[in-house]
Order: sequence, then C-alpha cells, then structure tokens
Amino acid sequence: MIRKRIAILISGRGSNMAALIEAAERPDYPAETALVVSNVADAAGLVSARDAGIATAVIDHRRFGKDRAAFEAALQGVLDANAIALICLAGFMRLFTAAFVQHWQGRMLNIHPSLLPSFPGLDPHGQALRAGVKISGATVHFVIPETDAGPIVMQGAVAVHDGDTADELAARVLGLEHHIYPLALKLLAEDRIRIADGRCLIDGAAAPDEALVVPKL
Ligand code: GAR
Repeated sequence: MIRKRIAILISGRGSNMAALIEAAERPDYPAETALVVSNVADAAGLVSARDAGIATAVIDHRRFGKDRAAFEAALQGVLDANAIALICLAGFMRLFTAAFVQHWQGRMLNIHPSLLPSFPGLDPHGQALRAGVKISGATVHFVIPETDAGPIVMQGAVAVHDGDTADELAARVLGLEHHIYPLALKLLAEDRIRIADGRCLIDGAAAPDEALVVPKL
C-alpha cells in the first residue's frame, strides 16, 4: 500500500489535526501526515504537531496583505516541496481563491461543525441554538470556492440538549468531529469516493438503519 501524503492546514487549537495525526500513526492507515501548515505563527496546534514529530511550516497571511494569490503561491510552494497529495483543512480560517480550489479539486477536505448546508460560516453552534434545532452535528466535505459548501463525504449527528450553551454544544460536536474526520480521509485516501452531480458516492459503505430522535420520550 502506498500511503497518500497529506498536509493538514490549521489556524488555531488543532484538535482535529491531532485526531488525524493519531489515526495516521496506525501502519494500516492509507495516509500519512507529511506536513502541518499554519497561517498563524503561534497556533497551539503547531506545538502538538511538532511534539508528534510532524514537519511544520508557517505562512503568515499578513505578510501578503490582501494578495491572496501570493499567499497561495507560497503555500503551494511548501505543498509541492513536500510532495503533498491531499489537503485537510482543520480549523483553517482563511478563504482560498477559485484558482487554488480548482487546483486541489477532489483532493482537499474540510470539516465544519454543523449539518451543512445548515449554519455555514462563523458561530455555527450559536446559529443552531438560535434556530432551535434538536439535532446538530458535523460535516466533512470537499472544498469548493463557496465557504463551508461542497460535496458531502460524511456527516455525524448529535442531540442538542435543552439549555445547551454554544460551548456545550461545540464540545459535543467536537468529539464527533474527531471521530468522523479520520474516517472520511480514509475513504478519500483509499479512492473510494466518486463525485457525481455534486454528490459523493462511497464504494462499499452502507447507511445505518438507526434513527436519532430528539427528544427521547
Ligand atoms: C472545528 O470545530 C472545526 O470544525 C471548525 O473550527 C474548529 C477548529 O477546531 N471549522 C470551521 O468552523 C470551518 N468553517 P480545532 O482547531 O480544534 O480542530
């Protein structure tokens, strides 16, 4: 098995990054973490990446002002230098140009802590609580130029509890993110995802029959 070399892009804490690194430490996992890139020099996730023995790079977007293409050229440089095959965005809080997204089409995943297409963008948990949904969750999807949108690879759902704060809901969803992101990346690295009409079809995977009903009576 040739393991796909992945880069994980972060801006902050990096807990999803850590979950991906941990999964990829298993010898039978079809991807290896070759590089962690941050646009923020003091991102906490960089420390845990280095502690795990992963190569890191910092590309501070502020050096490039409003010139997104120049930032992306620098990013592409480190990705090429490290022979990266797949990108995982993990709390990476920069928007890409359409040209960069196009270049990585079908090879770049993102995770967002809501059941997309509901609640994209900032404060998804606050949005979910204000909407009064009973179920929320997390979505792993391919990146397209539109933010927090693109063909959906995998979703997981959790109950919203009465009286949840945004932080409480975020913590419940985060545990699920750490579970599904490595599973979704595995599918991509094993070439088990086909995209047809903007939808993902997964080879050899079935949907479960159990329903999550909230509230439970
Ligand atoms: C995660 O909850 C991730 O889903 C979210 O940022 C958090 C990063 O946490 N991403 C987005 O909101 C993307 N629009 P982490 O740094 O601990 O992985």
